[in-house]
Amino acid sequence: MLTGKIIGLGSYLPPKIMTNDDFARIVDTNDDWITERTGIKQRHFSDGIEDTSSAMAAKAAKAAIEDAGIDASEIEMIVVACTTPDKLFPAMSFCVQKAIGAEGCICFDVNSACPGFVTAYNVAQNFIENSGVKTALVIGAECLTNIVDYTDRGTCILFGDGAGAVVLRAGEGRKNSFILRSTTEKMECLYCETLKQPKRASEEEFEKDTYLHMNGREVFRFVVSTIPANMQELLDREGIDASEIDHFVFHQANSRIIESTAKKLGVPLEKFPMNIQETGNTSSASIPILLTKMKKEGTLKKGDKIMMASFGAGLNWGVNYFEY
Ligand code: UT7
Repeated sequence: MLTGKIIGLGSYLPPKIMTNDDFARIVDTNDDWITERTGIKQRHFSDGIEDTSSAMAAKAAKAAIEDAGIDASEIEMIVVACTTPDKLFPAMSFCVQKAIGAEGCICFDVNSACPGFVTAYNVAQNFIENSGVKTALVIGAECLTNIVDYTDRGTCILFGDGAGAVVLRAGEGRKNSFILRSTTEKMECLYCETLKQPKRASEEEFEKDTYLHMNGREVFRFVVSTIPANMQELLDREGIDASEIDHFVFHQANSRIIESTAKKLGVPLEKFPMNIQETGNTSSASIPILLTKMKKEGTLKKGDKIMMASFGAGLNWGVNYFEY
């Protein structure tokens, strides 16, 4: 049947790097704790001026289009997953459309926090499989350092900025297969009330509402008890054994979450590629950034069986199976 195949991958990481030692100068933390508890060694920081979410999204998009070897005018649909947009509207996808010069597209953004890329990917797949779209651009882009509270050591050390993009093209293949679910039971575990608005930033309470708040321990517990079961459910539904999957491309939030998931599925950890040590948690950008790195390093090969999984605020999560 007709489905979307990934024909191009691209990513952008801003040049400024913050190491764990840099954080030890800001909050009461140290390299040993961060490395052991999260796997993170460094993360990229936007300059907050040039590298806005929309600008980074456009840079990743251009790289993915170049990788696909197509012309931007062939793009019929742009979906950007972003929780940290640099404007309320127009949506980030329109900014990308302008930057790449692809007039007349279907454009909108998706905000489902960290799993945003997985959500956007499935929305685009639906347009390809059911609505005649031939070429779609799906992007995850985040400037999380805009919403991080640099007095909260439990969250500020985790996040980084960046963007990743895929070009999907309609072709013959197995129908897109996914699970997207959510629960509001743990809504208070991970939230950010509002975007910064400079005119009101002096009000203390308002300032607090512009920061990301997270009960990391609760999110951790929820994820390790939920995601592996959903991954197994999708494998069972597709009639595939976990051992047949070549790569589990998992949201880069914490190396311990990844290790626990690999153990639960009975899969060697080598099948879970990781770049969290270099990027930190880039929310909805983490999966396409990782896919791009895998392609560049030659570990992602045509026909590889891939399972993507992500989770985040809502709480919500998504799992996909596809053949690259
Ligand atoms: O992508 C969005 C989805 N979010 C996630 O996936 C986050 C999932 N959760 C996590 O990754 C982990 O829970 C964290 C990395 C956020 C925290 O790790 P943890 O092992 O759950 O630590 P904890 O929150 O239970 O804290 C343990 C101790 C505490 O000290 P006490 O109370 O035992 O004295 C914290 O105050 O570690 C302390 N701590 C730190 N110490 C040094 C917390 N943050 C730091 C820090 N440096 N940066």
